[in-house]
Amino acid sequence: MLRGACSRPRASVAPAAVLAGALLSSFARCSLPGRGDPVASALSPYFGTKTRYEDVNPWVLLDPVAPRRDPELLPGTCTPVQLVALIRHGTRYPTTKQIRKLRQMQGLLETRGDGGSRVAAALAERTLWYQDWMDGQLVEKGRQDMRQLALRLAALFPDLFSRENFGRLRLVTSSKHRCVDSSAAFLQGLWQRYHPGVPPPDVSDMECDPPRINDKLMRFFDHCEKFLTDVERNATALYHVEAFKTGPEMQKILKKVAATLQVPVNKLNADLLQVAFFTCSFDLAIKGMHSPWCDVFDIEDAKVLEYLNDLKQYWKRSYGYTINSRSSCSLFQDIFLHLDKAVEQKQRSQPISSPVILQFGHAETLLPLLSLMGHFKDKEPLTAYNFEEQVHRQFRSGHIVPYAANLVFVLYHCEDAKTPREEFRVQVLLNEKVLPLAYSQEPAVLYEDLKHHYRDILQSCQTSKECDLPKVNITSDEL
Ligand SMILES: *[C@@H]1O[C@H](CO)[C@@H](O)[C@H](O)[C@H]1NC(C)=O
Ligand SMILES: *[C@@H]1O[C@H](CO)[C@@H](O)[C@H](O)[C@H]1NC(C)=O
Repeated sequence: MLRGACSRPRASVAPAAVLAGALLSSFARCSLPGRGDPVASALSPYFGTKTRYEDVNPWVLLDPVAPRRDPELLPGTCTPVQLVALIRHGTRYPTTKQIRKLRQMQGLLETRGDGGSRVAAALAERTLWYQDWMDGQLVEKGRQDMRQLALRLAALFPDLFSRENFGRLRLVTSSKHRCVDSSAAFLQGLWQRYHPGVPPPDVSDMECDPPRINDKLMRFFDHCEKFLTDVERNATALYHVEAFKTGPEMQKILKKVAATLQVPVNKLNADLLQVAFFTCSFDLAIKGMHSPWCDVFDIEDAKVLEYLNDLKQYWKRSYGYTINSRSSCSLFQDIFLHLDKAVEQKQRSQPISSPVILQFGHAETLLPLLSLMGHFKDKEPLTAYNFEEQVHRQFRSGHIVPYAANLVFVLYHCEDAKTPREEFRVQVLLNEKVLPLAYSQEPAVLYEDLKHHYRDILQSCQTSKECDLPKVNITSDEL
């Protein structure tokens, strides 16, 4: 359990001037009502996991707290009984590793030859505003992502997010600061709804159950031995990612960027290019600012760099290896335990003990689960050699898991006026749009049918067994 730690602004260790500047520009740029998006980059659609939520859902820019009712949502004959949401943290700072690479890139610029382009000069003049302490933490824009998401979801399902239910909210979070802080910001958004004009207190004073840290659930990948051995710590598991980094598509960009920046091509590599490209996305998402790094790349380059990001997600978090998704079985089962309980309580005409369950995690939490459910699976795997063939692929992480991505399971109780029969239905929403079931394309399904379809995962997938490494019996080798 977590007390008090939620709403302390971690940025307080930042030099005040840097912080004030960041906040000012993020507020000034991000809250222009109804004016479209003044700084969206032509490269925005290719930022992969660094994509802003509003680039996936541009309607959010018009009114960030007005709910958008997907026409596929079930109508009034069905009542929402329970909502289980998996939410990726909001916009965050780069990690320390990324910041160090960026510094390396900046250092390279300072050694460049004379002449050079306008872009190179602009980049060399720029001072790097990223610092080590920022290490992947949630930024103010990320808190705003969460507050606004809270207000939209509450407006979409007002009975579930009623003020009386506030004390019954159940929040679970990954232990990472950005997730803990996201859960607090989400609660603050709800507080705003119930107490307009009253500044939200610390989460510990909100008279709701404080968010509970549960890494076994939200960071299951860290607890799965088989995943860690076969994929995470396996130098050859990401073969296609490494091969693509040195492939012809990347070579072309390396040469071009080296010429633009007036630096030797052998000093550049795909990792540095990627961090430069990410800086374009970070400056946009965090500061609402057009970075000079954006001018180094064109859309064709961006598609290649997006593919590099997607390749990594594919092989490390999705269909690349079975264990990637199987390691999320416990999370999938946890969702159905909640739904089962709600169904049972409803059938007994008891009050629903947890009408709203909110779980805060990572892109790495959502992607395996979506893969387990069979979503965004292309006919051919993503490899180092089929970039061209995969141009129209479904697996584009920027569309699936932008910052503040959310996967929401809504359980409905439906009564047919003509027959006395009652039934339970489930809808799944991804980023506030109904996600048709991977196996039937239906926008809603009977709860029993859903359970039947996923019976293998629900009944036969034990995380302990899936994640167990085969015991090597040294002596049996001699047989
Ligand atoms: C590493 O990954 C490769 C490719 O999937 C696989 O063949 C190999 O067995 C893995 N090694 C370990 C130690 O799991
Ligand atoms: C390992 O092999 C030995 C010799 O064949 C056998 O006696 C033993 O039961 C095996 N242990 C396990 C855990 O399978």
